[in-house]
Amino acid sequence: FSVGMTSVTRLCGTKSIPTVNGQFPGPRLDAREGDRLVVTVHNHMSRNVSFHWHGLRQLRNGWADGPAYITQCPVQPGQSYVYDFTVAGQRGTLWWHAHLSWLRVHLYGPLLILPGLGVPYPFAAPYKEVPIMFGEWFKADTESVISQALQTGAGPNVSDAYTFNGLPGPTYNCSSKDTYTLKVQPGRMYMLRLINSALNDELFFGIANHTLTVVEADANYVKPFTVSTLVISPGQTMNVLLTTSANPSSQAFAMAIAPYTNTQGTFDNTTAAAVLQYDATTAPSSAQNLPLPALPRYNDTNAVARFTSNFRSLASAQYPARVPRAVDRHVLFTVGLGTDPCPSNQTCQGPNGTKFAASINNNSFVRPRSALLEAHYQRRYAGVLMANFPTTPPHPFNYTGTPPNNTFVAHGTRVVPLKFNTSVELVMQGTAIQGAESHPLHMHGFNFFVVGQGFGNYDPINDPAKYNLVDPVERNTVSVPTAGWVAVRFLADNPGVWLMHCHFDVHLSWGLSMAWMVDDGPLPNQKMLPPPSDLPKC
Ligand code: C2O
Repeated sequence: FSVGMTSVTRLCGTKSIPTVNGQFPGPRLDAREGDRLVVTVHNHMSRNVSFHWHGLRQLRNGWADGPAYITQCPVQPGQSYVYDFTVAGQRGTLWWHAHLSWLRVHLYGPLLILPGLGVPYPFAAPYKEVPIMFGEWFKADTESVISQALQTGAGPNVSDAYTFNGLPGPTYNCSSKDTYTLKVQPGRMYMLRLINSALNDELFFGIANHTLTVVEADANYVKPFTVSTLVISPGQTMNVLLTTSANPSSQAFAMAIAPYTNTQGTFDNTTAAAVLQYDATTAPSSAQNLPLPALPRYNDTNAVARFTSNFRSLASAQYPARVPRAVDRHVLFTVGLGTDPCPSNQTCQGPNGTKFAASINNNSFVRPRSALLEAHYQRRYAGVLMANFPTTPPHPFNYTGTPPNNTFVAHGTRVVPLKFNTSVELVMQGTAIQGAESHPLHMHGFNFFVVGQGFGNYDPINDPAKYNLVDPVERNTVSVPTAGWVAVRFLADNPGVWLMHCHFDVHLSWGLSMAWMVDDGPLPNQKMLPPPSDLPKC
């Protein structure tokens, strides 16, 4: 990966953006289950960078995970770092992205892992496989957007367009030539490998006159189900089968993405379109006039809940669902926005003159000055992290009535220590402070099983009785529903320090983040690998 600045024109404007090997979106990586990947990053920019292999478990090998100041110091200008890791026990659609500030708005690409040689999919083999990455385009420089938001305490500017593989398409000014077109043949089955790499928006997706059969979520097979529209959160990936019509009623059909949100703030309320083209000889000049697929309204939370309730893991002999049965640790997190008081020497533009913040259990995560993983490996925690992250909410909460009076947050670099092989049940409750937004929570180092979810307050007496412990979906990113809760279980069998955070970059920047610090196990193959010799210094 040669990382440098490249001029790119979108929406009638040209700006210089960070790219990998001059490409936007970045290069696609293809691997097979069991492969070892070696990616050498050369940073030719004048600012720091690091890369994350989103959804890759990185067993015992947090050194290759990538979040800056968590598992490594960033790669500085003029420096290099080799990400060296093996894909063990995973196959499916994942992706890579920069993991520092908002750099991932431009630095992202697909990471596709095929099953081991000779191992078939648990469904008929598709005729072709096509990665489609959804993204966002800002006319402004995104690094100044977020630094201004952090300084003034206001909500940041929102994006100006959504994109298909980096292209906004015909619904935006001067973008018809920047339209993503997928050429297909009639009567064939395609597998779309969908990736939501947008910064701050959950997205609806659909194709006019076509249905989609979901077969995989976050690189885990699911029991197939068919829908006309789907919703995908930032950080999530989804494989869908698309059977093209044998006798299409038109030569081309529109695909579309549009936001799903319940925010009370501003958001990018635009729709991006792309083209599904049957006849390769007709140019998609008519793209502008194609009827868009009917997508749910931007705040249709019921449509989202209906869609989400369909996910079940295969739970077959070949692909068993290893849901932890017994629970060693129960953890309850409140997840949401909050505020900080405005410093006396400043005027803040957040709600009621405050500064925006975001927190888990009222702790707003503070980025340390050196990497947590090194501190953990050397057992030198003083001045770097505190192992006292609250595992129950410090304030009572009730989301059915008026918002609770606990919007102010504490600040700290806090982690939850876990003994090796602890089975954890984590309930995440949305707080609906500052608006009932959902929060796509992403966990590094683990997949988890989504055993339950609902609206309103989590009920610790009655809700656990309804958990699905048979075939819950296994994922790495789950949306804590709007004014609701979600329960997940995972086994802490991967030693290291693993970040968990909201995959809306604005919420991550405001502190909606924490880390699990997992001890080594007793056996040699249960211990962290030693750090590579080229590990960057802070
Ligand atoms: Cu895809 Cu910590 O991120």
